[in-house]
Formats: sequence, C-alpha cells, structure tokens
Amino acid sequence: MKTLLITGGAGFIGSNFVHHWIKHHPEDRIINLDALTYAGNLENLAGIEESENYHFVHGDICDAALVNKLFDKENIDTVVHFAAESHVDRSITGPEAFIKTNVHGTFTLLEAARKTWANDDTRCRFLHVSTDEVYGTLEADDPAFTETTPFAPNSPYSASKASSDHLVRAYFHTYGLPVVTTNCSNNYGPYQFPEKLIPLVFINALENKPLPVYGDGQQIRDWLHVADHCRGIDAVLQHGRLGETYNIGGCNEWANIDIVKLICRHLDELRPGDKPKAELITYVTDRPGHDRRYAIDASKMLNELGWKPEYTFETGIKQTLNWYLENQTWWERVRDGEYRKFIEQQYSTL
Ligand code: NAD
Ligand code: TYD
Repeated sequence: MKTLLITGGAGFIGSNFVHHWIKHHPEDRIINLDALTYAGNLENLAGIEESENYHFVHGDICDAALVNKLFDKENIDTVVHFAAESHVDRSITGPEAFIKTNVHGTFTLLEAARKTWANDDTRCRFLHVSTDEVYGTLEADDPAFTETTPFAPNSPYSASKASSDHLVRAYFHTYGLPVVTTNCSNNYGPYQFPEKLIPLVFINALENKPLPVYGDGQQIRDWLHVADHCRGIDAVLQHGRLGETYNIGGCNEWANIDIVKLICRHLDELRPGDKPKAELITYVTDRPGHDRRYAIDASKMLNELGWKPEYTFETGIKQTLNWYLENQTWWERVRDGEYRKFIEQQYSTL
C-alpha cells in the first residue's frame, strides 16, 4: 500500500488523476494538497470525500512548515506533483504567481522529500508533471519534441515550468532523490477550466458569444485526452526509470482554427435550428510570444512502458463536449468571481 501526496488534485488534470487512482488502486491512501486558487474546485471531486483512504488538505505548496509536517506525519512515499499556475495568458499579465508556485513551490516539495526520504528512499518516488511547452516552438516541418530536445521556453509559464524541471533533475543528480518527470502535450476532457481553448469556445458557442481565435488561428497543438494522460502518469509512476523524463502526447496535431470549426460543427448537429456557430468566429490580436507549433514524440512511452493513447480525437472530443453539455451547473459556478474578472479583462475588446 502506498501513501500518495497529490498536489493540485482539485484542478483539471489532478482531479481526473485522483478519480483514476482511486478507481485503479483503491487500497492506497491519497493526501490531496491544494490551495484552491481560481483553478481549484472541490466539486471536481464530488463523491470522493467519503472515501476512507482520501484526505483533502487546503494549503499552499510554498508553505514549507505545512509541507514538512505532511511528510513527517503522513508517511508519504509517493508524490505526484500537479500544482501549478497553468494558463499562459495569465502568465503574461501576471508572471509573479507562476514563479512562486511553479518554481518555489516545486523547490519546497523537493526539499521536504529530500529531508524525509534521506534514509529510506527505496520505496519512494517523486513524479513531477510538466509540459511540452518547455521545449519552445516548432516550425511546420520540424520533427516532434523528444526527451532530448533542448529547452527553449518562450512564455513566463513555460519558463517557470522549465525551471522546475531543472530543479527536479538537479535533485536526482545531486541528492539521488528518486524522481521522474513527465512532459505532456495539451490536455482536453472533463473538468477543464473554461479559460482554455476547447471549453471556452464550446461554452461561448452554446451562448452565441464571439469565439476568439488568436492571430491567424494556424497555431498547432497536439491534443491528448486527460484520461490517457492519467494512464501515462500511472505507467511512469510504477515502471518509469528514475531520473528519466517521459514525453506524453496525443499523436494528434490540430490547428486551432480547425478545432474551433470542429466544435462549431458538433453544436450545429446538436442544434440544427440555430444559426451556424462558425459565424461567431472572431479573429483577435495574437498572444505575445505565441508558440507556433507543439508536437510530442511519445515513442519512449510506447517502447519502454507500452503506453499509447486509447482515445481517438473523434470519440474524445464528442465525449468531452457532451460532458460540458450535461454539466452546465458545474461550469456556470466555475464562471463566478475571479474567472469572470479575468475573462472581462482578457476579452474586453470583443
Ligand atoms: P489547473 O490550473 O487546472 O490546476 C492547478 C491546480 O493547482 C488547482 O487546483 C490549483 O488550486 C492548484 N494550485 C495552484 N497553485 C497552488 C499552490 N501554490 N499550492 C497548492 N495548490 C496550488 O492545471 P492543470 O491543467 O490541471 O495542470 C496540472 C499540471 O499539468 C500543471 O503542472 C501543468 O503545468 C501541467 N500541464 C497541463 C497541461 C494542460 O493542457 N492542462 C499540459 C501540460 C502540462
Ligand atoms: P490554451 O488552451 O490556452 O493552451 P496553451 O496556450 O497552453 O497551448 O490555448 C490553446 C491554443 O489556443 C493556443 O495556441 C492559444 C489558442 N487560443 C485561442 O486562439 N483563443 C483563446 O481564446 C484561447 C484561450 C486560446
């Protein structure tokens, strides 16, 4: 039986991972440490609070006293570190929170693990969840990112994640901390905060609001269903080699404008009486420093761990959009407060 410290378990991927782990490893204990920023939502974990082996701690990963106490008291042998500021646009308007949480927060966790596991690390493992954005941007014909692609982050978000990846690497080489890092591509699926492209466009289209497309809309992302990502993290946690990094991707490259049009077509089919949703597409000023293309070469995951995505984009996107249709109360509540203020500031010119 393991005791997992999951950080950021009330966010999009973290909450999907908590659901995944409880389903597949019900004997393990989970401590979910989350500061409940605008992106954290305990409603993502409805029904789980009652599980005997699950415990939520409301706190900040930068709080060294709290993190040390958890390591001392809870006998933690596994860390799955999701907690982060995760939205590129927010990192452009307010980078400081990204440095604090993504860099200092990761450092705080690494220090606590190093001190606590110093004499007993044979059963322990620290998995750091990172992003393909650390590798920078690709041209149309470039090969996909591999684990040896040099880092070239272009946004405060990706620079802060790259810093945390470097710290994790250094703790392996310097202190022998049992770490593994995963760098994954853009996720989509249930519980994604509706500031990210897919839920934002779908909800705006439902409400006949403008669908903001940055620049020429030809930027390419490699979309991965969150459930496939959770399976990938599970595989790395159990069988990945210590000190290694693993790229997790969807083998599924799409230009933003094509995704927006796909979402419009899906809604047109569901609501044949409405005006075609593509009429709502609105090209807006591009994001500063906008990376042109991301693509992941996930062959190490396949060759070493036998992992590959199970969702096709066709089934994954339909399932996701239907989830948002069926969970309107969830996203309406999410849109309150902080989220609304940010959206107003971001799209004030529409
Ligand atoms: P998210 O923004 O939905 O959730 C982040 C969670 O972390 C929230 O619950 C938030 O409350 C919590 N948090 C933030 N600051 C904290 C702090 N100081 N202390 C404790 N908790 C804090 O993010 P996500 O999309 O679920 O991403 C999870 C991880 O995966 C991040 O590390 C992100 O960089 C990485 N990632 C995400 C994607 C993606 O497409 N979403 C792609 C690649 C990598
Ligand atoms: P996003 O979901 O913010 O993820 P990331 O920036 O981490 O890739 O954005 C995905 C792509 O969609 C990115 O190229 C920016 C673009 N985008 C828009 O065109 N309009 C929008 O309103 C948003 C939020 C994103």
